[in-house]
Amino acid sequence: MSAADDRRVRIYEVGPRDGLQNESLPIPTETKLRFIELLIDAGLREIEATSFVSPTAIPQLADADDLIKRLPGRSGVRFPVLVPNERGMARAEVAGVDAIAVFTAATDAFTEHNIGMTVDASLAAFRPVLARAAELGWWRRAYVSTAFGCPYTGRVEPAAAVAVAERLVELGVDEVCFGDTIGVGVPDQVAELVSRAEAAGIALDRQAYHFHDTRGTALANVSAALAVGIRTFDSSTGGTGGCPYAPGAAGNLATEDLVYLLDASGYEHGVSLGRVLRAARFIADALGKPLATKVGQAGGWDERTGQPTDRET
Ligand code: COA
Ligand code: ZN
Repeated sequence: MSAADDRRVRIYEVGPRDGLQNESLPIPTETKLRFIELLIDAGLREIEATSFVSPTAIPQLADADDLIKRLPGRSGVRFPVLVPNERGMARAEVAGVDAIAVFTAATDAFTEHNIGMTVDASLAAFRPVLARAAELGWWRRAYVSTAFGCPYTGRVEPAAAVAVAERLVELGVDEVCFGDTIGVGVPDQVAELVSRAEAAGIALDRQAYHFHDTRGTALANVSAALAVGIRTFDSSTGGTGGCPYAPGAAGNLATEDLVYLLDASGYEHGVSLGRVLRAARFIADALGKPLATKVGQAGGWDERTGQPTDRET
């Protein structure tokens, strides 16, 4: 069976981390835990829970140590956390995680704004972190942000994103996630990046894609990636999210929008649309914002009756 025939898709939920990190009002740890519980109830099995970064850089996630200790029953669910350096790794070990994501970018300018290092320096900082995580048998992901465009330097050539990804693979990550941090990519660019990364030796099942819907291209980009055999996508329930160091980065691709597309296209992913919508409404309420995602507003669709499903009652 070729990769393109495989109908199973992994949905990697980033709502609790990417979705919430940029919210200015403090969100109680209890609310985050309830959100995570609802995401698990929805069938999500990879939930990026928080970040072990500087609390000055990301005050919203300053409760990471406490949150991880209080996570609900975790059997069969992976809760990766972002780790930028050895300090973060030490905190992650104490808290008891077993999956991490390190994060750099295709451009120095973005990496310097985001984590105060050049890309080279970030890779040097990740080396001991990833070595330790490997020793502990943890799952390891690496992000290449600004893989299509950078808010400081403009268009990014696929070769630049792939070059960084190759070095991360050399450092022993299980998966590389290419991020369209400011939502500027279009389908042809996605297909080109996938094929160039594959040609560089990064197998399709070790590539993940993280789209932002800033300009409405996220689902088109997912379709393009599906067509060339990519089966792992990041999304955020409720479409929340954005990076404080990426001006103009509006919400992540919403999990409910992704689930609708995958369901209607016959992909298997184990996530219930109705339950994702419940979690989406919960987090929208908690943030005091209307649920603005497409499927959040329209609901699902029952093809037998023609009627919308799972709408707010
Ligand atoms: N966890 C907690 N605190 C940390 C830390 C970590 N992982 N790493 C550094 N710190 C603290 C230091 O102890 C220091 O504290 P002090 O001011 O009280 O002495 C302070 O943060 C600055 O540390 P320094 O090593 O000088 O780093 P920096 O100021 O250059 O910041 C990062 C580097 C990576 C720690 C910081 O930029 C960061 O956490 N960025 C995260 C950005 C992010 O998450 N973006 C969104 C994801 S895309
Ligand atoms: Zn994002």
